[in-house]
Amino acid sequence: MRINTAALALFLSVTAMAVPAQETLGSLAKKRGVFVGAAVGDAFWGGDARYKDTLKKEFNLIVAENAMKFDQLEPSKNRFTWKQGDDLAAFAAQNGISLRGHNLVWHQQSGWIANAAAGLSRIEMQAVLKNHIDSVVGHFQGKILEWDVVNEAIDDGAGALRESFWKQRIGSDYLDSAFTWAHRADPKALLFYNDYSGEGMGGKSDKIYDLVKGMKDRGVPIHGVGLQSHFAAQALFSTADIDRNLKRLGALGLRVSFTEVDFRLPLPADSAGLATQKDNYSRLLAVCLANDNCKAFLTWGFTDAHSWVPGFYGGYGAALPFDENYKPKPAYDGLKQSLTTFVGIRAPARSGSLRNGNVTLDFAHGGLGFSPAGFGEGPVRNAVGKWLGEARLR
Ligand code: XIL
Repeated sequence: MRINTAALALFLSVTAMAVPAQETLGSLAKKRGVFVGAAVGDAFWGGDARYKDTLKKEFNLIVAENAMKFDQLEPSKNRFTWKQGDDLAAFAAQNGISLRGHNLVWHQQSGWIANAAAGLSRIEMQAVLKNHIDSVVGHFQGKILEWDVVNEAIDDGAGALRESFWKQRIGSDYLDSAFTWAHRADPKALLFYNDYSGEGMGGKSDKIYDLVKGMKDRGVPIHGVGLQSHFAAQALFSTADIDRNLKRLGALGLRVSFTEVDFRLPLPADSAGLATQKDNYSRLLAVCLANDNCKAFLTWGFTDAHSWVPGFYGGYGAALPFDENYKPKPAYDGLKQSLTTFVGIRAPARSGSLRNGNVTLDFAHGGLGFSPAGFGEGPVRNAVGKWLGEARLR
């Protein structure tokens, strides 16, 4: 059977409309073999049942917004408080949801370690870090799919590494040490370097690339890069650029996860803004689905009722896929559309055909590509993500 791209485009638009109502983000993600998740904040421990209900229904991955950070887990030296992390791990296990760990090492700690750092030697500081990682990763061992081992270590200016107290007390090798200790404490967890403003190509993402390439070259156990993806919904971003970044990280053997996605709008949000936001959510998820080294896409919160955006970006909000009353927004439909559609992304100009069993897909484009692999070779899935097998260029 031969299908040309015009027929395929028609098929895609038909299938995109027919998302069965009972499907959720999580159920669709599962069918595609990926994770769609959300960060869980303080409201988890509040009284509104809609919070947990939505999490259970819609997501197959969660991450603590704050509860598993250094200060929260180790509020004073070598005294650990596991309650909230344990609550999340239990909730995840009970509901068949996977858990991400965020994060082990960050410059934004306000507690005892930030205050004590100045008086500590390299060896004392290494001992603090190792004890934290051994304890925390050991405590959650076997329960974490991906750990953000180091968060935001790169300088926003001209420098390479941020002059954090970790870097100043220990030296640049604190990252190698942190990943190595984390790997020993939970050999099955995938270990990530996580940062912001490095989604597409550019100065910061080049620095991230150099950092993680160096780690790979030195044999440090790093498995992926987390791209935070806090975007202004009106700002244009290039999916082709982000796609290129995913591919160059993939070529290093690294996964990429979109770890903290939100698209903020100026308040009050209007329908044009919500439509742009829908388009952006859908396009960003499509880039992930187009690359086999991308398996996880998480929003930072999920309801506009609980989001860090209004507190951090004055005048902005409405950044998430559910509104303040937990009702799905256009952005939610955009995510579902990407999960149920062949991914169309801009691919290098090329023509050819894909063969899968007795089906051959012909394509000729200098524009839209249609393969989930973004190019014409790779795994082919049908509209609900069922794997059809490997396709090869003929
Ligand atoms: C933010 C939380 O959302 C806030 O509640 C908290 O006050 C500060 O941290 N990048 C990260 C996250 O890696 O940990 C941050 O989370 C948002 C930016």
